[in-house]
Amino acid sequence: MSNRVVVGMQWGDEGKGKIIDLFSKEADYIVRYQGGNNAGHTVVVGNQKFILHLIPSGILHKNKICVIGNGVVIDPKALLDEIENLRERGIKVSNKNLLISEKAHVILPYHKVFDKLREEKKGLKKIGTTRKGIGPCYTDKVARCGIRIVDLLDREIFRKKLKENLDEKNEIFRSLYKFKGFNFQQIYKEYCRYAKKIKPFARNCSVLLNKAIDKKKNILFEGAQGTLLDVDHGTYQFVTSSNSTAGGASCGTGVGPAKIDEVIGVVKAYTTRVGEGPFPTEFSPKLMSKIREKGEEFGATTGRPRRCGWFDAVLVKHATIVNGTKSIVITKLDVLDDMETLKICVAYKYKNKIYKISPANTNLLNECKPVYIKLPGWLKDTSVVSQYKNLPSKAKNYLKCLSKLVGAKIYLVSVGSERQQTFNVR
Ligand code: GDP
Ligand code: IMO
Ligand code: MG
Repeated sequence: MSNRVVVGMQWGDEGKGKIIDLFSKEADYIVRYQGGNNAGHTVVVGNQKFILHLIPSGILHKNKICVIGNGVVIDPKALLDEIENLRERGIKVSNKNLLISEKAHVILPYHKVFDKLREEKKGLKKIGTTRKGIGPCYTDKVARCGIRIVDLLDREIFRKKLKENLDEKNEIFRSLYKFKGFNFQQIYKEYCRYAKKIKPFARNCSVLLNKAIDKKKNILFEGAQGTLLDVDHGTYQFVTSSNSTAGGASCGTGVGPAKIDEVIGVVKAYTTRVGEGPFPTEFSPKLMSKIREKGEEFGATTGRPRRCGWFDAVLVKHATIVNGTKSIVITKLDVLDDMETLKICVAYKYKNKIYKISPANTNLLNECKPVYIKLPGWLKDTSVVSQYKNLPSKAKNYLKCLSKLVGAKIYLVSVGSERQQTFNVR
């Protein structure tokens, strides 16, 4: 393996956790570069299911170093709880296998409350965020008033920055949201306790990763969310607040783009999305509940039912372009086993105009009607298939069609949540 970015190619939940876990075997470092505990990455090992939110999905492997990069936003309590939960389940977590960038930004209680109040105020126009404080924390980062791990670790700097933030934010809370505001001492004390526990993990991770690359170590970059949730390349404003595309791996770790060798996209064999926003290929209610049930499409972080729809080749093609993806992994093919006919969206139609590239205008995308091609289903159980050659020919046909339409080679196919339910495409 070389230095590889694994990125979601749709609206998240493509099965990145499973694929990262598989690729971790060949990696030395597994690195999260953006997002926070809005992510929920599932790894199934035998009869055990792990859902990782902030900690890289390589943590289940021995002798690997997991890194939370500078581009990630960290809720200290969520991180410490996650570490504790893993330890309770017999997974060793220490600063021998988990390191945190001192430049990562910290999610504070006011970020979470802002997230909630802003969503409530928006009413029907809400984004449908995970309410983990992600957007408000990135807002502060860009506004240059954020608090980083390195600031949290210095009591005096933390005191000063927290005070400055609360002075401003409490006023906004009171005047705009009629919310009572936050008590300085309470947050200060609580976060100083977290700081003590987090200190042993904090490092200059950019230096560390670049040194590792000099020593020919293999780095696996774990994308969270997906391309269509990227703040620049996604379906704005119904996106998250970070660059979840492959480019984010460089900024979010301090590893220059020239040191990254490969970008692998994870693509679900159909489409899902949690939260609000345009979804041209969304199923009708009947089909929605069928696929949701079969694919167990409920949010790994919030438990919300995921919206489901047909494969949208227009959007995934966009994802292959903006990520520079040449290889993709197709997941959840087995979920389509009972479908007599499959539809793939190859273009959109709006007022007699055909769009082969998704429009940047979100309102227009919302109005677009998908143009479909139809393919016959295979009506066979693929979850038991362990080699590409044994897939039903109609399933191979579906995969070939996806590959051609999105302009990327299929590298792996996944037909179940377990490690062994994966095979190469030769
Ligand atoms: P992530 O956020 O991209 O890591 O994906 P999630 O973990 O949120 O959601 C993917 C879900 O699909 C998880 O429950 C996985 O265990 C499951 N999964 C992954 N690959 C497959 C597959 O090929 N088939 C089936 N049926 N489930 C899968
Ligand atoms: P993984 O890594 C799916 C969605 C939310 C909402 C929007 C903004 O598991 O694929 P945020 O809380 O980030 O401000 O919410 O983004 N969202 C995800 N959807 N998978 C995720 O992560 C997501 N992380 C955020 O539902 O629509
Ligand atoms: Mg997920």
